[in-house]
Amino acid sequence: MLPLAEMAVTVLTTANGRDKTAISREFASVWRDARAAGVVPDIGHAAPPDMPARPDQPALLAPRDVPLRKTGSPEGRIALLHAVAHIELNAVDLHWDIIARFTDVEMPIGFYDDWVQAADEESKHFNLMCDCLEAVGSHYGALPAHAGMWQAAEDTKDDLYGRLAVVPMVLEARGLDVTPGMIKIFKQAKSHDAVAALETIYAEEVHHVAYGSKWFNYLCGRLDQDPTPFFHALVRKYFHGDLRPPFNEEKRAEAGIPPDFYWPLTKDGRPT
Ligand SMILES: [Fe+2]
Ligand SMILES: [Fe+2]
Repeated sequence: MLPLAEMAVTVLTTANGRDKTAISREFASVWRDARAAGVVPDIGHAAPPDMPARPDQPALLAPRDVPLRKTGSPEGRIALLHAVAHIELNAVDLHWDIIARFTDVEMPIGFYDDWVQAADEESKHFNLMCDCLEAVGSHYGALPAHAGMWQAAEDTKDDLYGRLAVVPMVLEARGLDVTPGMIKIFKQAKSHDAVAALETIYAEEVHHVAYGSKWFNYLCGRLDQDPTPFFHALVRKYFHGDLRPPFNEEKRAEAGIPPDFYWPLTKDGRPT
């Protein structure tokens, strides 16, 4: 089997979304089979691209130029599914990128098990969103999407601590806050397949946040750093703006993120 970092770069340099996720899922299953057989596969070294390869469509626009649509209409709900598909495709690349990007930092094999698992799940999430879009006559690429989703990866490309703080522990934790509201929208519209897909995403995203928290705390222990102020400093350095309540305190707790991690980073600095 290929060293894991080379698998990661293969996924990152594949442009088409369905192809990217197919390769990603295939590599994840090869990895899991090896691990189940008691093998500790080679991680290797391979340079990830600055930006992952992406399809020609969707057009990527500055966030302020992406049209806002009301979710009360079918078009609005298609736009919402499209936005989630775009987030999931970025997430596939983010998880493979953390695998390839930081191979100079010696990490236990479980670090790689976790991110391979997360990348596999994101690949499934992207496919689920594409299936939902295609079932209503649309597809990923039919609408414009946010540019700048790779910004957090770029900003933290030299800092594994910063990467863990910002990507799983801020951005993916934000997903836990907003997904229940999306599920409600599709329940009201009686879009059963979208509800089922979003419920799968919601259940699995908790693990990705938990992986972030677990390895962030692990690395803080290595440096003898107090995780809470260190987290605050990293988020202030790499994340632009305040964190915005309301927070899903229960799911955040389940993922190992206590309130004193996020409340001090809000505008008011404390629960409102
Ligand atoms: Fe996801
Ligand atoms: Fe995720």
